[in-house]
Amino acid sequence: MRIGVLISGRGSNLQALIEAAAKPDYPAEIALVIANQPEAAGLQRAEAIGIPTQVIDHRLFPSRVGFEAAVTDALCTAGCELVCLAGFMRVLTGDFVARWTDRLINIHPSLLPAFPGLHTHAEALATGVRITGATVHFVREQVDQGPIIGQAAVPVHDDDTADTLAARVLEAEHALYPHCVRLVADGRATVSGHRVRIAEADTRQSALLNPPLADGRS
Ligand code: GAR
Repeated sequence: MRIGVLISGRGSNLQALIEAAAKPDYPAEIALVIANQPEAAGLQRAEAIGIPTQVIDHRLFPSRVGFEAAVTDALCTAGCELVCLAGFMRVLTGDFVARWTDRLINIHPSLLPAFPGLHTHAEALATGVRITGATVHFVREQVDQGPIIGQAAVPVHDDDTADTLAARVLEAEHALYPHCVRLVADGRATVSGHRVRIAEADTRQSALLNPPLADGRS
């Protein structure tokens, strides 16, 4: 499956997808990386191994609709069948989301529906949760909502700061995102109402990622 990755910055999740896609049995290839910020460091990660990149700077478009039309054009020209948001920090309109229904996925650094939006880790610490994590989900119009493909659980330590917690969660993200893209590209993750059904081979996918925390039975 040809995928397009949308980024705004560092691109460490993009890097995790690049490394996964380099494996011979991986069912997805990165056809295009689009950044809405010309200085996004992730662009260099893609360029370094010859993946096509494009900067589509949202500030050059008078409207969101025009910006998103350019993004869709680029994705279609590159033959992308699945779009992965990887630290893409622009809210997308309902029209864009509808255009890519069930072919647009996002990673968020919390166990959604807890802590959507920004300042996720500070909120987790302020709330006192003992477990946080990361979620990959199909995108819906409401920010950080949509059928959940996979989650990885991460412990919160007493002495965590937002930065130390973010670093621990990020490590989990780097395992979770390639895993979830594989499930979608293999056709094993399918949307059924508000939920995602995972075909048999991998029903315990969250547990596999993080046994003691994600699955109380093991
Ligand atoms: C990641 O932690 C990702 O989950 C988060 O931005 C970071 C991007 O890092 N995304 C969101 O908060 C989206 N709501 P990266 O550029 O190194 O992949």
